[in-house]
Amino acid sequence: MVGSCLFLRIILFVGVLGCRVNGLGVNWGTVASHQLPPKTTVKLLKDNGILKVKLFDADNTILDALAGTDIEVMLAVSNQELKTMTDFDKAKEWVKANVTKYTNKGGVNIKFVAVGNEPFLKAYNGSHINTTFPALKNIQNALNDAGVGDTIKATVPFNADVYDSPDKNPYPSAGKFRTDIFATMKEIVDFLAENKAPFIVNIYPFLSLYGNDDFPVDYAFFDGGKSIVDSVTGNKYTDVFDANYDTCVSALKAAGHGDMPVVVGEIGWPTDGDKMANTANAFRYYSGLLPKLAADKGTPLRPGSYIEVYMFSLFDEDSKSIDPGNFEKHWGIFTYDGQPKFPMDFSGKGENKTLVGAKDVKYLPKKWCTVNPDATDTSKLAEKMQFACNKSDCTSLGFGSSCNKLDGNGKVSYAFNMYYQMNNQDDRACDFQGLGKVTTENISQGTCNFLIQLEPPPPPPQSSSSSGSSPDSKSSSSSSSSSPSSHAYPSLSASLVGLAFIAVLTFMLV
Ligand SMILES: *[C@@H]1O[C@H](CO)[C@@H](O)[C@H](O)[C@H]1NC(C)=O
Ligand SMILES: *[C@@H]1O[C@H](CO)[C@@H](O)[C@H](O)[C@H]1NC(C)=O
Ligand SMILES: *[C@@H]1O[C@H](CO)[C@@H](O)[C@H](O)[C@H]1NC(C)=O
Ligand SMILES: *[C@@H]1O[C@H](CO)[C@@H](O)[C@H](O)[C@H]1NC(C)=O
Ligand SMILES: *[C@@H]1O[C@H](CO)[C@@H](O)[C@H](O)[C@H]1NC(C)=O
Ligand SMILES: *[C@@H]1O[C@H](CO)[C@@H](O)[C@H](O)[C@H]1NC(C)=O
Repeated sequence: MVGSCLFLRIILFVGVLGCRVNGLGVNWGTVASHQLPPKTTVKLLKDNGILKVKLFDADNTILDALAGTDIEVMLAVSNQELKTMTDFDKAKEWVKANVTKYTNKGGVNIKFVAVGNEPFLKAYNGSHINTTFPALKNIQNALNDAGVGDTIKATVPFNADVYDSPDKNPYPSAGKFRTDIFATMKEIVDFLAENKAPFIVNIYPFLSLYGNDDFPVDYAFFDGGKSIVDSVTGNKYTDVFDANYDTCVSALKAAGHGDMPVVVGEIGWPTDGDKMANTANAFRYYSGLLPKLAADKGTPLRPGSYIEVYMFSLFDEDSKSIDPGNFEKHWGIFTYDGQPKFPMDFSGKGENKTLVGAKDVKYLPKKWCTVNPDATDTSKLAEKMQFACNKSDCTSLGFGSSCNKLDGNGKVSYAFNMYYQMNNQDDRACDFQGLGKVTTENISQGTCNFLIQLEPPPPPPQSSSSSGSSPDSKSSSSSSSSSPSSHAYPSLSASLVGLAFIAVLTFMLV
C-alpha cells in the first residue's frame, strides 16, 4: 500500500500532502464470541492501508497471519502475566516464544511489546503496582539480550488516570503523575528514556462525556465551539484530547522527561449502547481527529508534531465486560463482521469515503429466532428474555441505543435472536419452552439490525483438545468476558482532566 500511495503521490503531484494519516494504527482485540479468520482481518487491514496494529496478547494464530506483511505490530504481555514476568528467566522464555520466533526474515514486523494493559487503573486497587516495573525491565532486558532491543521496545500502555492536575490549578501545564504511584511512574519513565522507548497513554474523550451531563459536548470533539485558556501558559484549548495529551506532557516534564515521545495507545468513539454512542458522534469524532493528525498539528505544548495513535478499536467485541457501560462492546470502526459503520477518510482530507469491508465473510444461514406468535402462555417471556440477555448481548436495547425503539415483543425477539446466534443457531437455543420460533424472514427493523452470526471455524481435528480458543459461545461468552483485553474496567481516564475542567469551563467559556 505504501508503494501504490507513493506512486499516486508522484503521478498526481500531491507531493507535500500525505496520502493518509501518517502511521495510523488500530487496536485488534479478540474478546468476541465469533471472529473473522485472522487472515481475513489482515487482508482488511491491508485493503484499508492500516500499517500498524496493537494486540492485547501474543496470539500465535494472529502472528502467523501477520507474518510476511509490513504491518508494524505491538504485542502484549497481559496483566495476568505481569507477575510471572518478574522472573527474568520467564521473561526470556516469553520473548523467545512470542517475539524472536517471529523476527526472522519474512516474519512479523514487531516494534513494541506492551507490558500490561492500563495496569495502574484505580479500579485494579494497586494489584499490579509492584510487578509492572520489574516485568517491564525484564522484558526489555530479554529483548536486549536477544539482540532485538534496538528495534523492539518494551513499554506500558497507561490509562490517562495515571496523571492529573490539581483541583486548584486544573490546567494541562500543571499535570503530574498521581502521588500514590509517582515513585514507580518515575522509575518507569527513567527506564523508558534509557531504552529510547515511548510513553503510551490511552485517551478517551467519550468517557469524559459518558454519564456526565455537565460536560460540554463540543469540547469532546474537534470542531470548536468551546475553549479554555491555561492560566499559566496562556495556551488555548479547544478540545479535551489536546488538554489531556498536554497534561501527560507536563507530567512527563515534571518527572524529568519533557521530551519523551508520547504514543496514544487507544482513542476512539463507540457507536451503540449509550445516548452519546452512535455512528453520528463517532463520525463527528473521527472527522475531527483524522485531519488533525494528518496535518501534524500537534498540541499547544507540542505544536506541529506528529502524534502516533492507535484507534480503538477494529471490531465490535460482543464478549467484553460491560462493567464500564453498555457501549463497551461497540468500539469498532468495523462491525463484528468487518463491515464499515460510517464514512472515514484515512487520508485526513475529510472526504466522504467508505472503508473497505472484509471480503469473503462466511455467515451462518439466514435464520433468525423470534417470539413464537402461536405461544399461548406468555407469562415467562420476561424471564426468558432475561436469560437470553444474560448469556448473549442486549446492549443495543438500552436507552439511546439502536434497538431501544422496538416494542416489547420486538425486544424479546431481539434477545432471543442474540442468544440463538451466539449459540451458532442451535435449534435448542431458540426454544425457550415453546416461546421462541426460528424464522427465515429478516426481522430487522429500522436502525435495529437482527444480526446473523459468523460461521464458527471448523472444530480442531483432535477431539481431546481443550485449548479454549474455540468460539463455542456457550462456554466462551462467560469466560472471556472476564478477559482483561482492552479496558474492561471503568476507564476514568480522560474524564479526570475533563472533570477538572468543568468547574473552570463554567466561568471561562469563550
Ligand atoms: C506467549 O504468549 C502467549 C499469549 O499471550 C502466552 O499464553 C504464552 O504463555 C507466552 N509464551 C511463553 C513461553 O511465555
Ligand atoms: C477493588 O476494590 C473494590 C472495593 O473494595 C472491589 O469492589 C473491586 O472488586 C476490587 N477490584 C479488583 C480488581 O480487585
Ligand atoms: C507492594 O509493595 C508494598 C511495599 O512493599 C506493599 O506495602 C504492598 O502491599 C504491595 N502491594 C501488592 C499489591 O502486593
Ligand atoms: C456520503 O456518500 C454516501 C454514498 O456514497 C451518501 O449516501 C451519503 O449521504 C454521503 N454523506 C455525506 C455526509 O455527504
Ligand atoms: C440473570 O443474571 C442476573 C445477574 O447475574 C441474575 O440475578 C438472574 O437470576 C439471571 N436471570 C436469569 C433468568 O438467568
Ligand atoms: C436484514 O435487514 C437489515 C435492514 O433492513 C439489513 O441491514 C441486513 O443486512 C439484513 N440482514 C441479512 C442477513 O440479510
